[in-house]
Amino acid sequence: PSDNLQMEGSSNLKRENCRAKGGSPGFKVAILGAAGGIGQPLAMLMKMNPLVSVLHLYDVVNTPGVTADISHMDTGAVVRGFLGQQQLEDALTGMDLVIIPAGVPRKPGMTRDDLFNINAGIVRTLCEGISKCCPKAIVNLISNPVNSTVPIAAEVFKNANTYDPRRLLGVTMLDVVRANTFVAEVLGLDPRDVDVPVVGGHAGVTILPLLSQVKPPCSFTQKETESLTSRIQNGGTEVVEAKAGAGSATLSMAYAAVKFADACLHALRGDAGVVRCAFVSSQVTELPFFASRVRLGRNGVEEIYPLGPLNEYERVGLEKAKKELAGSIEKGVSFVRK
Ligand code: NAI
Repeated sequence: PSDNLQMEGSSNLKRENCRAKGGSPGFKVAILGAAGGIGQPLAMLMKMNPLVSVLHLYDVVNTPGVTADISHMDTGAVVRGFLGQQQLEDALTGMDLVIIPAGVPRKPGMTRDDLFNINAGIVRTLCEGISKCCPKAIVNLISNPVNSTVPIAAEVFKNANTYDPRRLLGVTMLDVVRANTFVAEVLGLDPRDVDVPVVGGHAGVTILPLLSQVKPPCSFTQKETESLTSRIQNGGTEVVEAKAGAGSATLSMAYAAVKFADACLHALRGDAGVVRCAFVSSQVTELPFFASRVRLGRNGVEEIYPLGPLNEYERVGLEKAKKELAGSIEKGVSFVRK
């Protein structure tokens, strides 16, 4: 580590010991890709989370600066930075939760699948590190294409004999966050009072909002259903185009990632009734992975809920989603197996 990081480390150690004496509960969380567009605001928000006692920030660039900056926040979590592959193992050892926003984002005109060639290798390397250093950690995978990177992670963990499907979660929370916002706009409600289940996967038509199951109960015209579904499916592209080459969603994604990670930490702590949508190993459909509502517990996914009654529009959407998902899952699996 650089001098800067070492200095941070020794004063952090004292603080960590103080905390341990006080017996304050807390979890150890690593962010891989912590210096990126998502990583930085995600690191800031996790530093503010009272359930986090240790926060490890890993990236291949710029972690000394991000770590020094975040570490000055007067919140409880001890922050340490790790730079470059030779520090990956130290970054991961002892972690309870690993959040992965590492990899390249989209530019206008790109699909998430266009990111496959670069991000697949990054995710494979990071997951090999997890198998070795914290095989029991809960993994929140954000790197796109999520529909393929989750199967990649599963294959890596299988090869290392550390695979526990309950602990591997693809983060689709941003689709739910967007759906809540857009639906609330149409209904004239506060988005905090709206809950839209979004199932399937995390790309284009695989993002399937179940507008017939919105809470509070409501109904939409066919036109509203179509335009809301399309806006939710293309919410990411809306941001990519507005940023015009400067990347994809980072701030709303960091918010969504923290909302999801916080749910995982509450579940790890033993809180009951923690339910979120996530892309996980699943038997809800004939596909090996699928996003749907899951109940989280001390071991990750404790229960996967069925899709519930779908209307005709959603049944057609589900068939389209499954067709595209099957190919994306297969692409991820064969990347590792080949
Ligand atoms: P970014 O380019 O701003 O940041 C990515 C970071 O990953 C960079 O700091 C980079 O140095 C780092 N990185 C690259 N290779 C690495 C490696 N081998 N190990 C560790 N870190 C590495 O990109 P941004 O905007 O933060 O997006 C990150 C990923 O998240 C992209 O793949 C993007 O498509 C995805 N994403 C996923 C969403 C979701 O809903 N699941 C929503 C938005 C983005």
